[in-house]
Amino acid sequence: MNYAVIQTPRLQIHPLSREEARIFATEGRPGLEKHLGLFRFDPQLPEQWLKEMEGTPQYILQQLEKHPNEPLWNTGWLFITDQRCIGSMGFAGSPDESGKVFLGYWIDERYQNRGYMTEGLRAMAEWAFADPRVHLMTANTPVDNVASRRVLEKNRFRVIGEFEGHPLYGLSRADFIHSTFFPPSPQLKNSAKIDSQKQMLKPRSMIIAPSLLAANFSKIGLEVLRVQLSKADWLHLDIMDGHFVPNISFGPEVVRIARANSRMFFDVHLMCSRPEILIEPFVKAGADSLTIHVELGDKVESLIWKIRSMGKKVGLAVNPPTNISTVEPYLDKIDTLLVMTVNPGFGGQAFIEEMIPKVQQVYSWRAEKGLCYNIEVDGGINFDTAVECAAAGADAFVSGTGLFGKRNLKAAVKKMRDMTERASKIRENPEEIEKGSSAQSVGNRK
Ligand code: DX5
Ligand code: ZN
Repeated sequence: MNYAVIQTPRLQIHPLSREEARIFATEGRPGLEKHLGLFRFDPQLPEQWLKEMEGTPQYILQQLEKHPNEPLWNTGWLFITDQRCIGSMGFAGSPDESGKVFLGYWIDERYQNRGYMTEGLRAMAEWAFADPRVHLMTANTPVDNVASRRVLEKNRFRVIGEFEGHPLYGLSRADFIHSTFFPPSPQLKNSAKIDSQKQMLKPRSMIIAPSLLAANFSKIGLEVLRVQLSKADWLHLDIMDGHFVPNISFGPEVVRIARANSRMFFDVHLMCSRPEILIEPFVKAGADSLTIHVELGDKVESLIWKIRSMGKKVGLAVNPPTNISTVEPYLDKIDTLLVMTVNPGFGGQAFIEEMIPKVQQVYSWRAEKGLCYNIEVDGGINFDTAVECAAAGADAFVSGTGLFGKRNLKAAVKKMRDMTERASKIRENPEEIEKGSSAQSVGNRK
């Protein structure tokens, strides 16, 4: 279901989908590199590891066949840093009847003793135990990989047996939860109650993102503070380069100043022809997410990678005249899909109604493909149009003039969040309409 890359401070952990696992099993490394297109296996990976990986197709194919309905569990995991795959975990089968999940585990020794293994192992353990069926995570690593074994032992893995001549380590759910080396996230302390798959499917809470473009630029620091105090979820920062759009807004320096005044999530929207030269400056200035436009064509794939490789969330935007099918190839590689509801360039324009079917389309793709990107709308968003978009499937709402124009920003943010949440619940549970709360009546409540 959730195939988004797991991001640790320095690694992107890329899970293989069933399709990718099948490609790997049938076409080997070159096939997978070509398919993913985003990274290369480190050319210096030792032969032994490559052989071991390539010796697994039979196993992968068996697993795929054995668990046809288990999209989460038949995957391998590649550890990628600086666009290089430096190691892997996997391949995990479905947890067996006793709740055991198996992870083979390897990392190249040039990357050992640098914390990568602990980072990766921790992320994998969090991921595995988020599934309530899992009671034991096992890991095996070659007997002579002393560094790997040390990391496993430090993180409470104990030798519980042997697997193909190598020690087999195990970490129980109880040990994981109580481990001090490996503190699980607070939600996981309660993990018996967590059903990760349901978590992913439950209606999400709405993200309200005031756009700084509509702020009073003569007191920008105070305006940022005002947004922070409004309890909005994201601050949307529109970057216009005078080329991709016929207007110029502001650059990294303004983002840096905003960052000094705020701990909010910074959603940077690059309406720029050459984002490749801007990604790094905006990351340094404090961006948490960078959105690029699908209209950039051939460059999109490498830009997505570039943002990922800097450890930031990836957004992909689509302009009103652009066909929505152009975003389809990238959906499993992004965190946010931004449907532009005005032609970008200026704040204060009127919402383009014809964009609603695009929102519906990306919403149904998300469910069909089992993905989890946010669906963001931007341009002409006020209470009414936000509700319309929420009813169509949007869950992140950028609003400039619609929110900044309100004297009480905090109340406006709350109102937009409540109204969109309600509209999206109605979409999930249409019978609510019978209780007298239709999306329309919500929309008209001013
Ligand atoms: C449009 C920008 C929007 C803009 C929205 O080019 O991408 O983010 O700030 O502003 P309003 O909400 O005023 O349309
Ligand atoms: Zn924007």
